[in-house]
Formats: sequence, structure tokens, C-alpha cells
Amino acid sequence: MSTTNIAKTLASLIAEADPVAVLTGAGMSAESGIPTFRGQHNSLWSQFDPQQLATTDAWHADKALVWGWYRWRMAMVQQAKPHAGHLALAKLAAHANIALVTQNVDDLHERAGSRVSAHVHGSLFALRCFDCAQAYAQALKPLKPHAATLRLTPPTCPHCGGDIRPGFVWFGETLPEYAWARAEAAADRCDLMLVIGTSGLVYPAAGLPAVAQQHGAKVVEINPEDTALSPHVDMHWRTTAADALPQLLKEIGG
Ligand code: OAD
Repeated sequence: MSTTNIAKTLASLIAEADPVAVLTGAGMSAESGIPTFRGQHNSLWSQFDPQQLATTDAWHADKALVWGWYRWRMAMVQQAKPHAGHLALAKLAAHANIALVTQNVDDLHERAGSRVSAHVHGSLFALRCFDCAQAYAQALKPLKPHAATLRLTPPTCPHCGGDIRPGFVWFGETLPEYAWARAEAAADRCDLMLVIGTSGLVYPAAGLPAVAQQHGAKVVEINPEDTALSPHVDMHWRTTAADALPQLLKEIGG
């Protein structure tokens, strides 16, 4: 199918769907300069060992290394801007009832103007105490761009004196309950799910498209590469988020 026909077909699927669930992954932010986790030469897990940075054992072993790495990622996200795909997706909400579920811990959807129903893997900026779990609202000192391996001492919790940790879900941790309930509800209820920029390898989020299909929804994948989900989806659009979403918005009349 030509690109124009894919855009037209998807626009008509969206016009008939209520609600439309959108599941995004790291590829959604790639064109804003945020590296994905897998697949590309500069992907995060090709350069860094998640066992040393994204587990509670890693935190206990070397908090300064872990905190420095997340501060590096926060600074990278703060310098990034939403791209045309983020902006188009935000505008699509004027034409469709969208439930946006993201695995991304950045805030680029929000800065583009989208309302995010669920950040299923947490948020880089939702800091909390490792010990008492109280949210930490104090502003962090602005940081100049620094090396990913710079060691930094985490702030101290004003309530209990514990260490402040990133609001990111680490490997082996359960997903935030409220966010996951909203994500499951979006998959249960939707008539159409758009799956954008995820490798579909990390469960339970990777199971959401199958849940949607079990409830009768169609699933459309937007991704320049084949993924673990590709054999199961109803339609692919083999291009990037910043290419597809503005075309889709145009087709819908936005
Ligand atoms: P991955 O890094 O596993 O996959 C990124 C996907 O984005 C790949 O399928 C790429 O082909 C695709 N991609 C790359 N550039 C793109 C573009 N411009 N437009 C659209 N797609 C593009 O990222 P996720 O699937 O999000 O979890 O990873 C899932 C989870 O694994 C993450 O949330 C994180 C990670 O470990 C936790 O840390 C809990």
C-alpha cells in the first residue's frame, strides 16, 4: 500500500473508533534526539548495563552512579524538544477520543500538548524517597551537560532523611498501580490501538496490543522496523513517528 493509502486507511479507522488507544515507546522520542533502549548504534542498553543502573540492587551498590546517570538523562530530555510527530498526535486529540499510554519516562508528549493517560514505566521527573516513598518536589540544581558516568549524590528526603530516587520503574519492580490500571482500561475499551515506536519486548506493556485485539480492536503499528509485535498487528506503517503522524493529521483534516 502506498504511504498516502496507508494514511487514508488509518484516518478512516480513526474516524470510526471511539476510543483510540495510542501506545508509545522510545522510538516516539528518537527524532527529538533521545536514544532508544535497543536497536540503534547509540541505544542506551548497547552502551550501558541495565543491571548496573536500572535495578534496586544497582541503587544499593552505587547510588551516586545511578543518580548521576538519571540526572544525565533528565538533562538530555530537558534540552530536547517535541518533534512534529508529538505535536501532530496532540492535535489529533481534537479529532478523536484518544487514550495515550506511554512507556516513555520523558515529558515530550505533555510538552507537545497531549494529555497522557498513563506513564506505565514512571517518569524521570516524578522523584520520590527510596525509603518512605514521599514525592520530592524541591527543584534540583540545574546541571550543565555532563558525562553519563558522572557520580552525583542524590538529594535527601526532607521527611525521613532517606535518599531521593528517580521515578523510573526499574527492572524487577511492579508497575505503578494506577497507571497500569488506566493502561489496561484503555486496551480493554479501545476500538483501535496505534502502537508507535516500541520493540514490543518488555512485558506487561508489550501485551497491551493483544489485550486490545482480544476485545475486538484493530492494532496498527507505526515503526520503521519489524518488531516482536509486527506478525500480530492488523496493519503496519513502516516509517517514523515524525513522518507518519503529521501525514495522518493532515488526512484527518487537522
Ligand atoms: P526500544 O528501544 O526497545 O525500541 C524502540 C523501537 O522504536 C524500535 O522498535 C525501533 O525500531 C523504533 N524506532 C526507532 N526510531 C523510531 C522512529 N523515529 N519512529 C518510530 N519508531 C522508531 O524501546 P521500548 O520498546 O520503548 O523500560 O522499550 C520498552 C522498555 O524497555 C522501556 O520503556 C524501558 C526499556 O528497558 C524500562 O526501563 C522499565
